Amino acid sequence: MTGKIIGTGSCMPVRVVSNQELSEHMDTSDAWIRERTGIRNRHIISGEETTTSLAAEAAGNAISMAGIDPEDLDLILLATSSSNTHVPAASCCVQQLIGAKHAACFDISAACSGFVFALITAQAYIRAGMAKLAVVIGADAISNLVDWEDRSSCILFGDGAGAVVVQATEEDIPFYGVMHTDSTKAGALLAKSRHQRIQPAMEETYLRMDGKEIFKFALTRVPQVIHEVLEQAGCGVEDVDLFLLHQANGRIIESVVKKLKVPPWKVPVNVDEYANFSAGTIPVLLDQLNRRGKLKRGQRLVLAGFGAGLAWGGSYIEWQMDRITGSEEG
Ligand code: UT7
Repeated sequence: MTGKIIGTGSCMPVRVVSNQELSEHMDTSDAWIRERTGIRNRHIISGEETTTSLAAEAAGNAISMAGIDPEDLDLILLATSSSNTHVPAASCCVQQLIGAKHAACFDISAACSGFVFALITAQAYIRAGMAKLAVVIGADAISNLVDWEDRSSCILFGDGAGAVVVQATEEDIPFYGVMHTDSTKAGALLAKSRHQRIQPAMEETYLRMDGKEIFKFALTRVPQVIHEVLEQAGCGVEDVDLFLLHQANGRIIESVVKKLKVPPWKVPVNVDEYANFSAGTIPVLLDQLNRRGKLKRGQRLVLAGFGAGLAWGGSYIEWQMDRITGSEEG
């Protein structure tokens, strides 16, 4: 048994916050942010929007595309580190919202690597015969974690959610995945929990980041993990059709492209419009490419996530859906 992706979906918050808007509240500028990160806008939750509402909407869009009944789902995995509920898990709230009453639900907390880790976990359950139809979601509202007065970090982040439906199949479809964690560098990207008996100072619960350390880490580990997963798949970088990297920032992506020596058009980017919304970036990028008709059956995709932990992971997928033609939706 292997799992194949049969539907993708996403949901981005309605409110768009531009660099210009940020520069009205803090000492920064559109030029600085664009030059250092490639980011122009981020989407930020407002009104009734939450991590779980975005996650449920993204899952619902993926389920509609897959044409399945939510009651047939037996697993919901939600990668998030910014859930609006502490108990129960955010995935339980999603279950209720999408009516997947037979699914077992749990969250995966692996920050920006979360979606890749969750997809590998879903595949492992399917291969072990423990699940047949899963929805795997990456959703985050990092706007709740950042200190909006810390210009060195807040400008990088946003909110959003993406999802895929994975179905067990007897077909022999290659899937490979690798996951790594090095907690000796955990301090480079850190936010203390607000859910403790002895409350930490509010200040400590904001996301704090050593930008240079994260930059160095990404430039070393991302090419490494891509080579590692490709070695398992028995092919080289030249055999890959598309690399879907966590959209942390444009400069990291450009540097990885150079290190891998691949043409930039094989490494799609949407960080300019959405910034970094952690576990959600890879599935949203996947969904956008899919709905724009950029994916076709047989293409070889490599996904790579990296971030707090420090954690990083990669997966190799052979795409099994037919190319979508017609208008974009969801
Ligand atoms: O999922 C992982 C997420 N994390 C990342 O992707 C972070 C990776 N790191 C980076 O992309 C970069 O380190 C940053 C974009 C965060 C920062 O770029 P940098 O080239 O490392 O800048 P820096 O921290 O060395 O700061 C340079 C200057 C400083 O001023 P002085 O000391 O030279 O006068 C900062 O105070 O830029 C200043 N600065 C800003 N200026 C305008 C820092 N943030 C801002 C800002 N606007 N938002």
